[in-house]
Amino acid sequence: MSTLHTRILGIDFENPFLLASAPPTALIESIDQAFEMGWGGAVLKTITPDDLEMEEASPRYAALYDKKHIIGFQNIELLSHQTVQYWCDGIKYLKQKHPHKVIIASIMAPVQKEQWQDLVQRLNNTPADAYELNFSCPHGMPEKGIGMAIGTDAQVSAQITQWVKQVAQKPVFVKLTPNVTDIATIARAVEKAGADGLAAINTVQGFMGIDLHTLRPVLDVNGKTTFGGCSGPIVRPIGLRCVAQIRQVSSLPILGQGGISSWEDAAQYLAVGADAVQVCTEVMLHGYQVIGPMLKGLQTYLEEKKFADIQTLQNRAISLISTHENLPKQPVAYPQINQEICVRCGKCISICQESEHQALRLEDGYVQVEQARCVGCGLCRLVCPKQAIGIKQ
Ligand SMILES: Cc1cc2nc3c(=O)[nH]c(=O)nc-3n(C[C@H](O)[C@H](O)[C@H](O)COP(=O)(O)O)c2cc1C
Repeated sequence: MSTLHTRILGIDFENPFLLASAPPTALIESIDQAFEMGWGGAVLKTITPDDLEMEEASPRYAALYDKKHIIGFQNIELLSHQTVQYWCDGIKYLKQKHPHKVIIASIMAPVQKEQWQDLVQRLNNTPADAYELNFSCPHGMPEKGIGMAIGTDAQVSAQITQWVKQVAQKPVFVKLTPNVTDIATIARAVEKAGADGLAAINTVQGFMGIDLHTLRPVLDVNGKTTFGGCSGPIVRPIGLRCVAQIRQVSSLPILGQGGISSWEDAAQYLAVGADAVQVCTEVMLHGYQVIGPMLKGLQTYLEEKKFADIQTLQNRAISLISTHENLPKQPVAYPQINQEICVRCGKCISICQESEHQALRLEDGYVQVEQARCVGCGLCRLVCPKQAIGIKQ
C-alpha cells in the first residue's frame, strides 16, 4: 500500500495537499471545515501588522472562460483583514482540534526589520508549524514597496529572509513570484540568506481585457482598472516551469502551486521537484470537497506505478529537462496517419498548410505525408480530433 504521508523539514504531512494562502484560508471556521474534509494543511491568508493600511476595491475578480467554464481568474484582492491576535487565537484553536494538520502562517510587513521580526515573534508563540514569507503579491502591495516589490529584488528578498531567520522558531518558506526574468536567481538569494524552503508560484501579473460593448475594463472598478494576479489552469505551465527551474538550482523543499485542479496536476508538480502542493482557485470554484478525488487519484496512481510514497515520484522528470541545445535532434518525429481512424476532416492539412511546411495533402481520399517537406513539428497530431496521428521515430 502506497502512502501519501510525507515529512518536510521535520513536519509530518498526512498528505501533500495544502490550501494555498487565499480566500479559502481567510477564516478559521473555513479552515476547520477544510481539515474535516481531508486537506493535509493550510497556508493562512497573509497576515500583516495590524496598522498596515489596506483598502480593497470592488469588484475584485475577472475570469477567463473556455466556453462556460472558468479556466483562470484575475484578482486584485489584498491580504488578510483579520488582526494578528485573531490568527494567534485561531491557530491555537485549529491545532488543538486538528493536531495532525499542518498550519503555515503566511506573513508580509513593510521593509523594516522590527516590523517583520515583531510579526514573527508574535506568531512564534503559536503552534503554527512554519512560516511562508509572501514576497510575491503582484497588486496593491508593490505600490507600498512590499509584495512582489520584494520578490523581484534579490537583495531585499535576502535581507528580509535574514531578519526573519534571526528570530523565527519555525522553518521559513519563501513564496516567490513568477513575475521575474529568472526565478532561480531569487531562489538562490533567499536560500543563501537562510530560507529553509520555497513556495512557488504566487499569481502571474495579467490583464483580463476590455469589454468591447462598453469599452470598459472587464475588471471594472467604477470605470477604472489595474493589473492583477492570474491564477487557475491558465497559469499551470508557468508554475511547472518555475518549480522545475528552482529545483534545477536548489535542493530546498518546494511547495508547488499554480493551476492545480486535479491529482494529475499535483503529480506533475511532484515530478518536477515539488515536495508538496498548494491549491487555491480550484477550491474557490468547486469547494473544499475537491480534496476527495485528489487524494484518491494520487493514491491509486502511486499504487499502479508501484511507488511506495510520493518521494519515489518526486523529481522523476527533472533530469529530463535541459536546454534546447542539449535536445537530441534526431530522429525526426514524422507523423504516421492511421487511415482506419482518420475521418479526413482536413484539420491537420489546414494547420500544416498555414504554418509553413505544407507537408500534408489529401491524395486518393487519404491524408498523405510528404516526408521531404515534413519537419516533424507535431502540430498535425495536436489538432487531430480522432487521435489518428502517431509519431514515427
Ligand atoms: C483571490 C486570491 C487571493 C490570494 N491571496 C493571497 C495571499 O493573501 N497571500 C498569498 O501568498 N497568495 C495569495 N494568493 C495566491 C495563491 O495563494 C496561489 O499562489 C495562486 O492563486 C496560484 O494557485 P492557484 O492557481 O491554485 O490559484 C491569492 C490568490 C487568489 C486567487
